[in-house]
Order: sequence, then structure tokens, then C-alpha cells
Amino acid sequence: MKQIVAVASGKGGVGKSTVAANLAVALANNPARPLKVALIDVDFYGPSIPTLMGGGKLSVDHEEKFIPAKAHGVKYISISFFLKNPDDPVIWRGPMFGKAITQLFEDVSWGEVDICIVDMPPGTGDAQLSLSQLVKLDGALLVTTPQEVALTDVRRAVNMFRKVNVPVLGVVENMAGFTAPDGSVHHIFGEGGGEALATQYETPYFGSIPINVEIRRGGDSGKPAAINLESDLGKRFQELANDLMQSLDETAKTSTLEIVND
Ligand SMILES: Nc1ncnc2c1ncn2[C@@H]1O[C@H](COP(=O)(O)OP(=O)(O)O)[C@@H](O)[C@H]1O
Ligand SMILES: [Mg+2]
Repeated sequence: MKQIVAVASGKGGVGKSTVAANLAVALANNPARPLKVALIDVDFYGPSIPTLMGGGKLSVDHEEKFIPAKAHGVKYISISFFLKNPDDPVIWRGPMFGKAITQLFEDVSWGEVDICIVDMPPGTGDAQLSLSQLVKLDGALLVTTPQEVALTDVRRAVNMFRKVNVPVLGVVENMAGFTAPDGSVHHIFGEGGGEALATQYETPYFGSIPINVEIRRGGDSGKPAAINLESDLGKRFQELANDLMQSLDETAKTSTLEIVND
């Protein structure tokens, strides 16, 4: 895997998985620069990538490696594929957790992968911290909603990634303005928070994603809104994909410079 990027936030329900799935689809279907994309769901609290991508289950190839599911141009695997009953609560403990995570990367026949998107569990506890250390992350994309409670949690996430030397690639604000049928825009979860956060941490701001019923519907039906390249949402996710790739390129350049200067 050439590059691995975590999609993270301090808390759940901000649309991390939704952004991760749509971003993966946008990267794989970028008309100018289509990439080979892997999507790995390590959210042991609420694995939702299979639903977002349209199902899938685990199979094993002749070399006893797991074969990832594939949809919308993206290869993906979820920690939930390893559960006997998908409704089982997942209680992962230290070594078992580490082993499961390592397996998702190493025991899967991924083939050639340009970029791997990792859908992280919410929170900034020990599990998230060890995850950031187990997987060699090239950077993290932070998802927040516009209001202050979500932002406080994202701040913790920023600090966590800094502690383990994972560059924060940028902030995207999800669930921003809702446009009503009469054209009026309603800022249900407030506004401006994502940009303020990016400014505070001197990290790029990738703009906002509106609250939109197509995003919710696409997620529930396994057809991420980003597959419609010509739609406004499709274009928005293409922009996000481009911004992310640019930030990755720039981050890689700076870290090479640091090594040269050492
Ligand atoms: N921009 C959006 N517009 C409408 N619904 C959204 C949007 N982003 C996420 N959702 C919905 O919000 C819920 C939580 O999103 P999810 O991606 O599962 O969050 P997380 O992974 O952070 O817990 C889902 O039902 C999803 O469909
Ligand atoms: Mg999730």
C-alpha cells in the first residue's frame, strides 16, 4: 500500500464513515487521476462500511488470504466481516485487537493499492492510540460538525495524532448548512467551526459538506452519493479527494525535507 490515510474524529455520529466511503469512491473514480483504492473499516464500536458500500462478505483465496469485497471501484474490508453474528457487540482486548487490525492489512490480498482509507473508531482512548501506532499512517483527515461540542473532541484527536507523529492533512466539516426546498439555508449544527479549528491548528480546511438527504439515502442503500460524478455532491467529494491528495503530496515533501536537513 503506497499511502494510508485515517479518517477520524473525536466522536461518533459526525459522519466519519460516510465521508470515508464517499472519499474512497471519489478517489477511485477521479476522471483525471483514478486511483486504486482500499477502504478498511476498523470501527469496532460501529462498523458501518459494509452498509455504506452495499454489503459484502469475506472469502478466502487459494493462498489462504482474505479477498476484499469490491464495489464502486473500491476494494474494502470491515472488522465486522470477522464476526460470527454481525449484531454481536465487539469487545476487543489488547493482543486480540492488535492481531485483528494487523490481519486486515497483511492477510488480505489487496493487490496494488495507491491509497488506503481507514475508517477509525470514534474517540481518542487507548484503542485509537494503539491503532495509530499499529498502522503506519501517512496522515489523518479530521471530520467535524460545525458546533463546539464536536470541535472539543476533534481537538483531542488532533493532539493524539501529533503525539504519535501522524500528520493532520486537513479538516472537513460535515453536516453543514441544510438547503430547504424553498432555497433557504439552515445551519442546523451551527457554522464556521471546522474552519476555525483548521486555522487554530494551522492545517488545511477542506470546506464543508452539507446535510443532504441524498447523502443519507446513498449511505443506507449502499450507493454513496459520490458515485454520481456530475451531481453537486459528486463534485464536492471530488474536490475533497483532490484537496486531500494535494495535502498528502505537500506533507510528504515537507517530511522528506526534514530528513534531508537532519
Ligand atoms: N452530510 C450528511 N447529510 C445527511 N446525513 C448524513 C451526512 N453525513 C452523515 N449522515 C448520516 O448521519 C449518520 C451518522 O453518519 P456516520 O457516517 O455513520 O457517522 P460516524 O461514522 O462518524 O459515526 C448516518 O445515518 C449518515 O447517513
Ligand atoms: Mg462510523
